[in-house]
Amino acid sequence: MKLNIALLAGDGIGPEVIDQAVKVSNAIAKKFNHEISWSPALTGAAAIDAVGEPYPDETHEVCASADAVLFGAIGHPRFDNDPSAKVRPEQGLLKMRQKLGLFANVRPTFTFPSLIDKSPLKRERIEGTDLIILRELTGGIYFGERGRKDDGNTAFDTMTYQRFEIERLAKKGFEMALKRSKKLCCVDKANVLESSRLWRETVQAMEKDYPEVEVSYEFIDAVAMRLVQWPKDYDVIITANLFGDILTDEASVIAGSMGLMPSSSVGSKVSLYEPIHGSYPQAAGKDIANPLATVLSAAMLFEDMDLNAEAQAIRDVVNKSLAEGIVTEDLAEGGKAYKTSEVGDWLAKNI
Ligand code: IPM
Ligand code: MN
Repeated sequence: MKLNIALLAGDGIGPEVIDQAVKVSNAIAKKFNHEISWSPALTGAAAIDAVGEPYPDETHEVCASADAVLFGAIGHPRFDNDPSAKVRPEQGLLKMRQKLGLFANVRPTFTFPSLIDKSPLKRERIEGTDLIILRELTGGIYFGERGRKDDGNTAFDTMTYQRFEIERLAKKGFEMALKRSKKLCCVDKANVLESSRLWRETVQAMEKDYPEVEVSYEFIDAVAMRLVQWPKDYDVIITANLFGDILTDEASVIAGSMGLMPSSSVGSKVSLYEPIHGSYPQAAGKDIANPLATVLSAAMLFEDMDLNAEAQAIRDVVNKSLAEGIVTEDLAEGGKAYKTSEVGDWLAKNI
């Protein structure tokens, strides 16, 4: 197969982790006889510095005409510490999600056999966890009306949802649940928020179309507790943009490190694959960040192209590296910590 993949390294550790995913993907291409052409493009703080815009039109064209987008990370402390900044790297990611129509963010949570004891959670609670948080990605409070009032002391962000936005996400959730354990949990705050009541009403109306799926409704605050307490109770979770953002960071504790969690963002023609972690500026340029989340995001990319053996080969080599202790410092726990690039080289060699 011939693949044209847009390569958006972004900021901080983005370029370093992306490099490893490219090495591994090229090794896969070689082994399975595919041809990958990589189309690099600017995004985030790097793009602001170069052209004054975090998601330039040229980058959008590269992404829109690619078969898929592989993305590193976005964000720079220079902007975090400047509340008055008008242009921010994160706006690039939001614009990209919106312009590419990526309304559903698929964030799987699973455990790695050799890492179970790295989690602060008890082995018997987490072993065998296999759930997906399906996060709405182009609506809600991230995209609602926001601003400041004239008094200079009031700021607001609004959480708005339209029925069609909930329906299209829930449809993906139901379809996903059908292929898995047939359990769908809608996570909201319907005891307080009107938009959450629209979520419940919409999902309830869809239940009759999926009689095999067992649907439950839970409040976000309760799930924040239950997810780490009884993660195996969950299969597919559908939730709003901000709730999903928060829950997926929390869920990474189950796997053992933020550096392990991949994701895909889907919705229209071109899908995007990215680790769920941020740009980890403290580690930028040091060759110490864990590249596995990005490497596993590449596995999700291959899977979505129906290249299942390729995806599995990546997962297998990642498991092997973990079992053999070829890990970066976040997982080394006093043992040898390998460099980001060394982990990438090892994975590519062992594909
Ligand atoms: C994520 C990140 C982003 C988000 C930021 C960088 C805008 O935290 O992908 O989870 O909040 O969606
Ligand atoms: Mn996040």
